Amino acid sequence: MPGAIYAEGLVKTFGAVKALDGVDLDVPEGAVMGLLGPNGAGKTTTVRVLTTLLQPDRGKAVVAGIDVLKHPNEVRRSIGLSGQFAAVDEYLTGRENLRMVGRLYQLSPRDAKARAAELLERFNLAEAADRPAKTYSGGMRRRLDLAAALVVSPPVMFMDEPTTGLDPRNRQQLWDVIQELVRGGTTLLLTTQYLEEADRLADSICVVDHGRVIARGTADELKARTGGERVEVVVHDPARIATAREVLTGLGKGEVAIEEHTRRLTVPVTGGARLLAEVIRELDGRDVEIDDIGLRRPTLDDVFISLTGHAAEQAPENGDTEENERGGRTSREEAAV
Ligand SMILES: Nc1ncnc2c1ncn2[C@@H]1O[C@H](COP(=O)(O)OP(=O)(O)OP(=O)(O)O)[C@@H](O)[C@H]1O
Ligand SMILES: [Mg+2]
Repeated sequence: MPGAIYAEGLVKTFGAVKALDGVDLDVPEGAVMGLLGPNGAGKTTTVRVLTTLLQPDRGKAVVAGIDVLKHPNEVRRSIGLSGQFAAVDEYLTGRENLRMVGRLYQLSPRDAKARAAELLERFNLAEAADRPAKTYSGGMRRRLDLAAALVVSPPVMFMDEPTTGLDPRNRQQLWDVIQELVRGGTTLLLTTQYLEEADRLADSICVVDHGRVIARGTADELKARTGGERVEVVVHDPARIATAREVLTGLGKGEVAIEEHTRRLTVPVTGGARLLAEVIRELDGRDVEIDDIGLRRPTLDDVFISLTGHAAEQAPENGDTEENERGGRTSREEAAV
């Protein structure tokens, strides 16, 4: 039986851009799936298809046991969505926004009022509750939008980059809220650019690129696939990076990754601490002064880089061809102010 969120062979083309090229997903009830991928990979398009906002060209989608293409209205009653770009009514206050959502979901006026007050408190918006949302900062809007998605707790939730633009404290608090939601049995699909977030929250992870799922598994499985330990060296003098690279190429077991501005070199290794000593000896022998050196396990960032060829934050924009997307980006930029 398919899980609470199920997709098979989703295809969606926008002109020349194949946004989805056969996406398959299966999220068991009560689980959290993290959808990772560089900009333009197809994450938002996947979420839009699953939340009935966009018709795919091909494929099948079932959410909360309901066929998304055949019965979109029923699906809408069973899901909550917090989109990548906050959708709050600018002219209403935070409190009014939340009460309105509660009423839309058929809460009684009293319950809608109580729920709004509770969420404003949880999301640190109590002080600003009675100001129009247009006076809110980017992070405050984001939080209001997330609170709106949580007015009722539907069995299946979708969150598209929920913590983008939040400061560390608010991000942490949102993680707590999400964990609580999931403990209550909600199935969640979340997209994120913060790999630490996926590591913390997701039971399983799908990495998408160019509209396809290119890897899936738990965070630990993906890390294990990327290889074992790595040695990380920070050299003192940028002019010595090339020599350090030669040393690491000789002793390591794969490609040496170099971050010029931090003078950091990383290479997958086998042999652990003994090899570390050897690296230090050899660097010393060739007069490469080091500021820092260590052995570490791969992170999800390493996984991301090895799968997609670039880091999550530096992923290139792919396809600015479209109005919607451009409009969205502008509002995100505004939200970042
Ligand atoms: N309505 C549309 N019209 C034309 N092209 C679109 C449309 N929506 C998405 N695309 C294109 O489809 C591709 C996938 O976009 P999508 O928004 O799903 O990416 P994403 O993984 O969410 O990226 P990001 O990390 O930047 O949010 C991109 O190339 C995008 O430009
Ligand atoms: Mg997106």
